[in-house]
Amino acid sequence: HLQDHEHYMLKEIMEQPKAIKRTLDGRLTSEGVILPELDAFFAELDVHRIRKIDIVGSGTSYHSGIIGKKLLDTMLDIPVEVSISSEFSCEHGSLGPGNLVIVLSQSGETADTLSALKEAKRCGCPTIAITNNKRRNIARKADYTLFTSAGPELAVAATKAYTSQISALMLLAIALTEKTNGPGMALIPDLLNALHQLPEDIEKSLIMTQDAIDQFAQVTNDQDHLFLIGRGLDYVLALEGALKLQEVAYLHADAYAAGEMKHGTMALITPGVPVIALATQEKLREKTISNIRELKARDAFVVGITTTGDSDVSDVVDEVLYIPEAHPFLMPILAAIPLQLLAYYAGTVRGYDVDRPRNLAKSLTVE
Ligand code: F6R
Repeated sequence: HLQDHEHYMLKEIMEQPKAIKRTLDGRLTSEGVILPELDAFFAELDVHRIRKIDIVGSGTSYHSGIIGKKLLDTMLDIPVEVSISSEFSCEHGSLGPGNLVIVLSQSGETADTLSALKEAKRCGCPTIAITNNKRRNIARKADYTLFTSAGPELAVAATKAYTSQISALMLLAIALTEKTNGPGMALIPDLLNALHQLPEDIEKSLIMTQDAIDQFAQVTNDQDHLFLIGRGLDYVLALEGALKLQEVAYLHADAYAAGEMKHGTMALITPGVPVIALATQEKLREKTISNIRELKARDAFVVGITTTGDSDVSDVVDEVLYIPEAHPFLMPILAAIPLQLLAYYAGTVRGYDVDRPRNLAKSLTVE
């Protein structure tokens, strides 16, 4: 199964162009999206009566949920909240039939997420599961399901699960926008073009970053702490990058909203501390650059991740990694690639079992 790769994690990172292509295949046309699995949902539920959407997931699935929230906030006229599965509850009668609950789970088995799904159903909420496994509990218990077709993910760390969940959320967002004639209607043509291009862009991101990230991982070998910063979608991505580094490389990695460091965490910055600055969102770049300058003034070692051709970031950082430029909503997929690779190489250079990190399991069947 491993073919050319030493570990499942690397194999699964490399498989992402194909996994995303499978998730999008047959669902994406030049004019819109077709989601036959959700025909019943759109037939049975009057989408105009949805008062609020709740997205629920754990770990990496929670992180894709935050991206989903930001996407839906832009596309729909419906308030969206995202919760960590183990924190989700409909106490105080806050949730009911007017609340659509979307649960995200690669394995389809996570006890915290299953219990959130049961709670949502108990309160009468319609539920959609976005999952990679058709035969597991979460798919069986949800009212409707949308499958990611990432293929089996055997390494404990979620990689292709994350990028395929965001892709599926994108399809769902487009379908919901069309049905509700949401404010994001005008954005759909650009999003469709970007999605058609996505598998190829992921391939490019892999090619553009793999060697440089391998070298940077060697540099982090004697470090105990690493910080990731970003604004907006880049901040959400920073959270995911930090989680990967913690679980696979046992490295204390923390994510911060770039503007937040100066409110306390800056005190932890000492000369040479590695910081990854994510600057993939053009509109937020200028402010992120000023935050990078603050870090450089304290002699942090800053690696910037930005889009091809941007020289503003490269001017202020120690090292720059370029990834292809795509639609802002797809950047968390393209920039996840170097962060996944960093966790992989940082884990292997430290000699850890990257496919089976200590204290963790692939399917968490206890709450
Ligand atoms: C991180 C990771 C976990 C899972 C979480 C939810 O790399 O793999 O954080 O994302 O346990 O798992 P699923 O998506 O299977 O419900």
